[in-house]
Amino acid sequence: MNVLVIGSGGREHALCWAIGASPLVNRLFCAPGNGGIAAVATCVELPVTDHAALIEFCRAETIGFVVVGPEIPLVAGLVDDLEAAGIKAFGPTALAARLEGSKAFTKELCARQNIPTAGFARFTDLVAAKAYLADRAPIVIKADGLAAGKGVVVAMTSEEAHAAVADMLGGQFGEAGAEVVIEEYLEGEEASFFVLVDGSHALPLETAQDHKRVGDGDTGPNTGGMGAYSPAPVMTREMIERTMREIILPTVNGMAEAGTPFKGVLYAGLMITAEGPKLIEYNVRFGDPECQVLMMRLKSDIVPALIASRDGELANFDLRWHAEPALTVVMAAKGYPGDFQRRTPITGLEEAGKVEGVQIFHAGTVREGDRILANGGRVLNVTATGGTLAEAQARAYRAVDLIDWPEGFCRRDIGWRAVSLG
Ligand code: AMP
Ligand code: GLY
Repeated sequence: MNVLVIGSGGREHALCWAIGASPLVNRLFCAPGNGGIAAVATCVELPVTDHAALIEFCRAETIGFVVVGPEIPLVAGLVDDLEAAGIKAFGPTALAARLEGSKAFTKELCARQNIPTAGFARFTDLVAAKAYLADRAPIVIKADGLAAGKGVVVAMTSEEAHAAVADMLGGQFGEAGAEVVIEEYLEGEEASFFVLVDGSHALPLETAQDHKRVGDGDTGPNTGGMGAYSPAPVMTREMIERTMREIILPTVNGMAEAGTPFKGVLYAGLMITAEGPKLIEYNVRFGDPECQVLMMRLKSDIVPALIASRDGELANFDLRWHAEPALTVVMAAKGYPGDFQRRTPITGLEEAGKVEGVQIFHAGTVREGDRILANGGRVLNVTATGGTLAEAQARAYRAVDLIDWPEGFCRRDIGWRAVSLG
């Protein structure tokens, strides 16, 4: 069958790489794609917001299956529109995507289903929000809607907390901040947990962990993710079982009971506290760059798994994984997550790609003739497997050092916590 992947990041490059390897796939397309995706799929210049144009393209190219990568088109109802047009698609409907699209929606579900999470209150009124805050700190302030990972302030002092509610309710994030959620501050180690869901069953994927802060030693501002590794040692078998029982299954059941069953990848951001795992947030898609390390470790064909999720047939499904760990280093444009330059040339990719165990996924590049130019904040994901995580790390950095891109930078310590555990 012919397959269309929606998106343009490193996650979509890794998905195209895995999907393109399936013997079930005839032609593979990606809209809009990027300079690296172009090597494994036919990129099509269609805006992901134009659902009618995407449907028309699917009909013209007899697309049998669409895989939607990012959250924005999911929250906007792309899967609903494709399915209504008779085109099979992987991912949640708009109503199910509220698990990521609205933090207040997720908090109410947690309350109904007794899912362990930080205590919370919701506000649209500044006076009421400030009265609730009083002099509480540390405390966490979140814009309700999508804010590209920037709508969260972990306030260590009550001054910061008051300033954050004033900024958000004052319009800093537009509509996304018209309502704020004020949360109890959780202490512990963070972990990400991914499951494939078919509406009623959840199949855990291998574990992975990203690094959100821009600087070495997990310092500086939050980003979309500067690197990732798999497996994540903090997710022990016992922690996985508790997370399934206490968080994932009540969520899947709650969504089904509400008449808005969840299908797709459910990504739980967790805090492993002294009392056990607590939900920080849900995402309704693969993590980026966590997807890159998961795709490197997946031994099974991914396509039947994605189709089984869409068809409600995950009950007896099984996925095989390589035992070897994987690690990815994000190379970003200098200045990211703030302002950065575009269209700076990158060379040395071919040599770097020859390092044993290495795959280079493109997150934000364009191809111009035979040149590759940076075209985004996060630009390359240099990914490697190895006999140990330390070996994967060494291989990834060996490849990074062969890439010549003076306007780029990366963290030098991806995986440090897990590597130090041996
Ligand atoms: P989120 O976008 O909800 O994942 O939040 C971004 C980051 O803020 C998380 O990765 C955590 O590091 C931190 N965070 C969010 N909520 C809390 C909380 N209730 N307690 C402590 N830290 C939090
Ligand atoms: N790496 C974090 C995310 O995809 O949201």
